[in-house]
Amino acid sequence: MIKINVAVVGATGLVGRTFLKILAEKKLNIENLYCYASEKSDGIIIEYNNKPYTVQKLCEENIINKKIDYALFSAGSAVSVEFAPIFSKQGTVVIDNSSAWRMNAEIPLVVPEVNPNDAFKHHGIIANPNCSTIQCMPPLKALDEKYSLKRVIFTTFQAVSGSGMKGIKDLELTTASKSPQFYPYPIFNNCLPHIDAFLENGYTKEEMKMVNESRKILGKPDLPISATCVRVPIQNSHSIEIIAELDKDFEITDIVTTLKNFAGIIVLDDVSKNIYPLATIATGHDEVYVGRIRRDLSNKNAVRIFCVADNIRKGAASNAVQILELLLQK
Ligand SMILES: NC(=O)c1ccc[n+]([C@@H]2O[C@H](COP(=O)([O-])OP(=O)(O)OC[C@H]3O[C@@H](n4cnc5c(N)ncnc54)[C@H](OP(=O)(O)O)[C@@H]3O)[C@@H](O)[C@H]2O)c1
Repeated sequence: MIKINVAVVGATGLVGRTFLKILAEKKLNIENLYCYASEKSDGIIIEYNNKPYTVQKLCEENIINKKIDYALFSAGSAVSVEFAPIFSKQGTVVIDNSSAWRMNAEIPLVVPEVNPNDAFKHHGIIANPNCSTIQCMPPLKALDEKYSLKRVIFTTFQAVSGSGMKGIKDLELTTASKSPQFYPYPIFNNCLPHIDAFLENGYTKEEMKMVNESRKILGKPDLPISATCVRVPIQNSHSIEIIAELDKDFEITDIVTTLKNFAGIIVLDDVSKNIYPLATIATGHDEVYVGRIRRDLSNKNAVRIFCVADNIRKGAASNAVQILELLLQK
């Protein structure tokens, strides 16, 4: 297996630490690993593959002349905007988890089960989609290939880990009846219909990410899509209700088979035994779980699907590492 030098930017964060875990699980042949974070983490020790690594402050002098082949970024948009071009100018391929580059027409936005060929069109930067978007793509691609999508509606129930360490801390604080430090209201005992900033059209940035990123990944720029994104007091794994209106007639049994046969999807759907996807089932896994698959009572051309995935793994780190594996296979 080819030896590679890898950098993890944001290595001390929730996604960054999961990158390290998944890189070790996949047994990639990493010769040199460089871990970067902010100044406050300079010099701290973290583990990769049971070995200690010293975190370095992210700055140009700590990057140059290291012959880094791939850099996995998860340190927010501002860091990506500033540092991804510095890495890529030195020949490093950047796989970026932030929203900084996702809608740039020159930059591929990739879910490996859905649009793997787009990954090879990169010019040094590949974008990893938003966590909620990623998990909806395999089921929607499966349906689109067979029945052609006509319209999609998302309603999300998103875990606090989607906000990083700050979200997890707010759930802990407000569960202990303390004031929130990050969300505008206590997340404990509340569902907040507010993820990221509100825009002039009344939708949030998170909702518009789901709309725009889905269109780009599915290669359907005019697909009508609408979304409501809700933060819920769940530690990890996002649950999403997808309503997909289809162009062609369908039988629910065929839809179930189509979803079962698509890479990366696990169907859990036997209501007679209370079997359906749950956050606690998805956490720690890389697959997308779907269930409650049924015809929409208000629209016979639409199917409703409940879709759950680990937002830190499939919604972030493992999707990015899958992109890296794709590049290595070539
Ligand atoms: N959580 C999710 O479900 C999810 C899913 C998809 C994408 N993402 C994206 O991934 C990114 C990180 O998310 P997270 O959940 O891992 O957040 P997090 O737990 O808050 O971690 C943030 C990481 O960024 C580092 N960082 C912050 N400012 C930096 C700077 N100026 N220079 C270098 N490193 C800096 C932090 O280092 P220090 O520890 O030194 O501060 C930390 O390692 C965000 O862009 C987020 O949108 C997250």
